[in-house]
Amino acid sequence: MSSLYDEVAPAPAEGVPTRRITVTVNGEPRTIDVEPRLLLAHMLRQGLKLTGTHSGCDTSNCGACTILFEGRPIKSCTMLAVQADGHSIETVEGLATSSELHPIQEGFKEEHGLHCGFCTPGMMMASKALLEKNPNPTEDEVRWALSGNLCRCTGYQNIVKSVLWAAEKMRAESN
Ligand code: FES
Ligand code: FES
Repeated sequence: MSSLYDEVAPAPAEGVPTRRITVTVNGEPRTIDVEPRLLLAHMLRQGLKLTGTHSGCDTSNCGACTILFEGRPIKSCTMLAVQADGHSIETVEGLATSSELHPIQEGFKEEHGLHCGFCTPGMMMASKALLEKNPNPTEDEVRWALSGNLCRCTGYQNIVKSVLWAAEKMRAESN
């Protein structure tokens, strides 16, 4: 098994240890060798080729790299891959099935919440965490839940409407 580090950066200095970790990603256990300094965001993107998790700043500001860690939204550029060992994570690739979009994805389509697309996966994962905890959020609660996810282009109005649209659809589906 090759080290993931080889895929994301020049070869490590001789003698740099790697660690074998197993992370459940979108329901599937993945066992990989990583250098202890590898960020979880980089493991996902370059190592596992799950490029839906975007890297917008690498300084924990933008939220483009948001994933769910044991169901809670985290910025994957703030966590080392080795810290995910034995844990379960969800990325935007896990939202849709082979035949259907997730209601959150539908909501972003219906309410024109897809502006640049770059920050969208992180917004969707933060929204998923919100709606699993609170199926009937107010506009303020949506804005608060997305407060760690920056939009630098047009604003948040349609993004908030998208999440409220998804909430309504998910409530209807659960009745
Ligand atoms: S890339 Fe992680 S917060 Fe911006
Ligand atoms: S939607 Fe991505 S910057 Fe605005």
